[in-house]
Amino acid sequence: MTFQEQILQGLPDKLPAKKTHPENANRAPIRKDILNKEEKQLAIQNALRYFPKDWHKELAVEFAEELQCLGRIYMYRFKPDYEMHARPISEYPAKSIQAAAIILMIQNNLDPAVAQHPEELITYGGNGAVFQNWAQYLLTVQYLALMTDEQTLHMYSGHPMGLFPSSKNAPRVVVSNGLMIPNYSKPDDWEKFNALGVTQYGQMTAGSFMYIGPQGIVHGTTITIMNAFRKILKKGETSAGKIFLTAGLGGMSGAQPKAGNIAGCISICAEVNSKAATKRYEQGWVDVLIDNLDTLILRVQKAQKNKEIVSIAFIGNVVDVWERFDKENIYIHIGSDQTSLHIPWTGGYYPVDLSYEESNDLLRNKPDTFKEKVQESLSRHAASINKHTVKGTYFFDYGNAFLLEASRAGADVMAENNIDFKYPSYIQDILGPMCFDYGFGPFRWVCTSGKPEDLKTTDLIAMQVLKKIMQNSPEEIQLQMQDNITWIQNADNHKMVVGSQARILYADAEGRTKIAAAFNKAIASKEIGPVVIGRDHHDVSGTDSPYRETSNIYDGSKFTADMSIHNVIGDSFRGATWVSIHNGGGVGWGEVVNGGFGLLLDGTEAADHRLKNMLFYDVNNGIARRSWARNKEALFAIKREMERSPNLKVTLPNLVDENLLKNLF
Ligand SMILES: NC(=O)c1ccc[n+]([C@@H]2O[C@H](COP(=O)([O-])OP(=O)(O)OC[C@H]3O[C@@H](n4cnc5c(N)ncnc54)[C@H](O)[C@@H]3O)[C@@H](O)[C@H]2O)c1
Repeated sequence: MTFQEQILQGLPDKLPAKKTHPENANRAPIRKDILNKEEKQLAIQNALRYFPKDWHKELAVEFAEELQCLGRIYMYRFKPDYEMHARPISEYPAKSIQAAAIILMIQNNLDPAVAQHPEELITYGGNGAVFQNWAQYLLTVQYLALMTDEQTLHMYSGHPMGLFPSSKNAPRVVVSNGLMIPNYSKPDDWEKFNALGVTQYGQMTAGSFMYIGPQGIVHGTTITIMNAFRKILKKGETSAGKIFLTAGLGGMSGAQPKAGNIAGCISICAEVNSKAATKRYEQGWVDVLIDNLDTLILRVQKAQKNKEIVSIAFIGNVVDVWERFDKENIYIHIGSDQTSLHIPWTGGYYPVDLSYEESNDLLRNKPDTFKEKVQESLSRHAASINKHTVKGTYFFDYGNAFLLEASRAGADVMAENNIDFKYPSYIQDILGPMCFDYGFGPFRWVCTSGKPEDLKTTDLIAMQVLKKIMQNSPEEIQLQMQDNITWIQNADNHKMVVGSQARILYADAEGRTKIAAAFNKAIASKEIGPVVIGRDHHDVSGTDSPYRETSNIYDGSKFTADMSIHNVIGDSFRGATWVSIHNGGGVGWGEVVNGGFGLLLDGTEAADHRLKNMLFYDVNNGIARRSWARNKEALFAIKREMERSPNLKVTLPNLVDENLLKNLF
């Protein structure tokens, strides 16, 4: 059967044979065995409803085994035999080119070169699922292949509820992931309802098919590290020979060494999982691989002496590195952490003094002891960081809930007022005021022809557009504009493409709109093939997350989720090809609501209209909210936008003299 026939077939006619897993597959951690007997029976019943009755007897036993051994039912037997990767858009059997673009993006998110645990349909973050099981995948791509431009596919946490009549102007797909009644959004609720097969953790971009490999995050990480160094360097100093210590070489964290190199420092990333570290090394994302602390010390001292720009992966626990550097008196200029502390009890964070295997064993067999070990380790971790910061290290939380979980573990990370943390988050100090409040965020695109030449052409177009805009940009955003021009000029040299031909670039509403419009023109003139545009949810408007994206909102509204909900609804009727809204992202289940979109540029006038209408709202929604929260950079940006766009009328805050409040209560 051809690839196209298999896509069109959906579920196979005959029960396929059982499958073995590819050698060296990086498998998802075994999940918590949380269901009681009746709930397990319900989970099996739920899984079997995808299949004809005469398969039930055989599948019931198999699914029960998956549930018992792995904590989830993935339906491995139904994983398709074709290779999983983004193909040129013309190879997809589809009536709607928009739907074909979505299949392409789904396959990219499941490509073993891109995805963290492809067998379990997990793209990144340990739990960022595209689907819960392979039946959902097969049905979804079949629906997409069959649908017209007058239908919309509604997806509930990976489950394709079906095609509903709509219109050409409606999104082709509406996705929700992990949305819960608020009182049922504790971490164990995810374990339970995911095991039952009724919800999933979509992370930010996995469940919305917009993940483009670690490149997507390299740029944001580069901006963060570069600006972190700008905060500590004296005039005339450079970051050469200076140290950035962090942890994690997984899905997103794998971008840190490359970003460290671009920012021009010595980066050390500790990673307990040797498979993850080796994968990044083999992909050329990190320069040196070391598995011994003594060797690490010698290599770091050499790099310091020679003022090298080098990235080092240390296979081992990051706590050991912090402690040993303290003992050896190695000065850390910048420190952070990107272990997956948004899922601390399910394998996101590995405790010190236990091997990777011992931890996994404990996690499965004695989850309560594992939890204790994690908390002990976090206390030790934070204590060691505190020793370094006393010496002058600049430490920031990388939005992975490190400080939140460390505080819950009783570690010494609280500020004197006992409300704030001792250290800022990267959003509070860097990305919030310098980027998001001005509307700059992680715009991205994918060239659906799959041709590297198309990507090069789009890089060039984007650079020309930015250079032109910069000529008239106000002083306040000149640095941003310059950083992004430098980035796009060098992007191809950094060889960051993994999977589809994709690019990321921080831009504001004006930049995003003008770049997308220029792409659409180039598509119309057949210079390049169709392009999908989108963004990370981690953006100006997409995400409400009190300890991350909206941590620099200080009017008390950071615990509300109106902005992200408005964003996805607003984008959906302004031209998005697909929209998604999720509970749970980088910081944990119940801790964040985030949304995003994808929009296919096909060179038509309709696409030109859609992109202008949608991108304008997509960015300015967040700036309006940030300005209402009295953020001065956002106030500047929204006033400027109102001058440019007469149809925009935003409610502005009246600023209050704080002296007036002092004696009130
Ligand atoms: N890169 C960004 O811009 C960004 C932004 C916001 C948040 N984050 C957060 O960073 C975290 C990491 O994301 P990811 O996609 O890389 O997750 P991931 O799970 O793919 O990678 C985390 C890695 O940390 C390793 N690890 C865990 N405990 C360790 C320890 N004690 N010592 C050394 N290594 C350890 C794990 O083995 C894993 O490979 C998430 O919580 C994410 O939300 C990243």
